[in-house]
Amino acid sequence: MAAQLRNVASVVVPQAVIEGAGVRLKRSIGTGTLNYVDPFLLLDHFGSDDPRDYLAGFPMHPHRGIETVTYMLAGEVTHKDSIGNSGTIGPGDVQWMTSGRGIMHEEMPRPREGRMEGFQLWVNMPAKLKMTQPRYQEIAAGQIPEVRREDGTIIRVIAGTVDGVCGPVVDIMANPTYLDVFVPANHTASLAIERGQDAFVYLFEGQAVLATQAVPNPRLVVLEDGDYVDVRTENEPARCLFVSGMPLHEPIARYGPFVMNTQGEIQQALSDLRNGTFIQP
Ligand code: CO
Repeated sequence: MAAQLRNVASVVVPQAVIEGAGVRLKRSIGTGTLNYVDPFLLLDHFGSDDPRDYLAGFPMHPHRGIETVTYMLAGEVTHKDSIGNSGTIGPGDVQWMTSGRGIMHEEMPRPREGRMEGFQLWVNMPAKLKMTQPRYQEIAAGQIPEVRREDGTIIRVIAGTVDGVCGPVVDIMANPTYLDVFVPANHTASLAIERGQDAFVYLFEGQAVLATQAVPNPRLVVLEDGDYVDVRTENEPARCLFVSGMPLHEPIARYGPFVMNTQGEIQQALSDLRNGTFIQP
């Protein structure tokens, strides 16, 4: 059977939202328009040339039942958490945090050379793993392989495999692919996707054509099923995130930083927080 191109299911305009202690960001998954792209629960694009838009940051807050993936393009985020990690991630670095049954953390953005920009993606965890031990992986920019195709396309492989090159983030249930893709002007970048995985493209620089649809930035493009996607550019280059993963097909009960399967489990998380039993030694 011939490989099938993935068509565009929908194109979403990110919404301006204020999160944490007053951080302005662009949210394209986890809104009234698009609740989730199973197993992805949220996608935030943060960044501004005005530090007042983000300096208040995200003071200590809990998570349960999800993984949060932070990928920096510019500036830095200093962080610390309840399992003993602390430090600073900078341009090109990735922090992959598995909350499991409970983690508390703080994330404070800071400019570098006047700039700060990045993404946070939430990946759902299956019911049987939601109450596992929290885990933390920090991947420095230099550990993330770059695939440079002959046509000038550059693909940073954070998770998954491209042209036989494997990304450093492994052992994630959804078997996700997470790529940062640069496509030069007047080119087509073809990306293979496992059939049955849910997938999206987040275009954040330039413009591109997906299937027959012209897409400006910033836009989130949700894809239909198939074997590959083509990101085609015309007069200007484009840069996008490409993300795919196995859908969980489980019920979703979400309340702020907790994503569980039932309302009862959300109530349990809230009472664990009140009783001081949220963080287990
Ligand atoms: Co957080």
